[in-house]
Amino acid sequence: MSHETILIQVGLADKPRKSRWPARLDLLQSITGLFLALFMWGHMTLVASILWSKDAMWTIARFFEGYFIFGKGYPWLVSCIVGFIILVVVAHALMAVRKFPINYRQWRVIHAHAKMMKHEDSTLWVWQAYTGFLLFFLASAHLYQMIIWPQNIGPYVSSYRVWSEGVWPLYLVMLLAVELHACIGLYRLTVKWGWPNLSRETLRKVKWGLTAFFLVLGFLSLVAYMKIGYEHRTRVGERYTPTWVVEKERGAQQG
Ligand code: HEM
Repeated sequence: MSHETILIQVGLADKPRKSRWPARLDLLQSITGLFLALFMWGHMTLVASILWSKDAMWTIARFFEGYFIFGKGYPWLVSCIVGFIILVVVAHALMAVRKFPINYRQWRVIHAHAKMMKHEDSTLWVWQAYTGFLLFFLASAHLYQMIIWPQNIGPYVSSYRVWSEGVWPLYLVMLLAVELHACIGLYRLTVKWGWPNLSRETLRKVKWGLTAFFLVLGFLSLVAYMKIGYEHRTRVGERYTPTWVVEKERGAQQG
């Protein structure tokens, strides 16, 4: 039976052809969401290097500036990475706003689902929408700082930002929002695409485990930056240089 015949038989022949775009946009939303969630895990692990040592955080920051390739750091390389992340965030946000309830009636329906039916997945969806909305503003502030002042990333300069420039409240709220948002998002992706093929109950347990892990890691890192920032509050502007770099530079001057 031809495609046209089927359309005639089900009474859709005179209706406009269905567009493939909603499905394509859905796929784009999933891909950008997956990318950003994985990026966040990597980002949190790198930011947490401060818990290991100041040298470790310094080395990671310089690595992204190309220091170990060119023998000198080029912070604009970090700005390029931030620029790319901004593009992905904007694409993801654009795809996401299509799904936001656009009037009070739609909000009431989803809240009723979540509350009256005690439907956990609907409740998670509401949390994802709220945290995503919050991230529009919080992430913009953070990404703006990172793209404009990429040279100010390091054990001391990051800590001055966190403590003396008062950015820690922003990071605290953003940490909660982003970890909830990313883990709920990944959970919803696994349910949607059916991989890995585990029960929803197991997936939810994994999700809460990962959320707790990254929240604790992020919180401890934030406290570490706040502590360094507090201890150095009277020496804002001073930059951290590992001993081996100081010795290398001294050696080069003498040589
Ligand atoms: C390429 C883009 C990004 C770069 C280079 C970057 C870099 C950094 C750095 C260096 C810190 C340590 C504190 C500081 O220096 O101010 C930090 C902290 C943080 N970033 Fe990012 N970031 C990026 C993107 C994002 C995005 C997209 C989010 C989430 C929306 C995010 C969320 C956070 C949070 C929550 C903290 C605080 C972490 C903590 O608890 O210690 N970052 N980021």
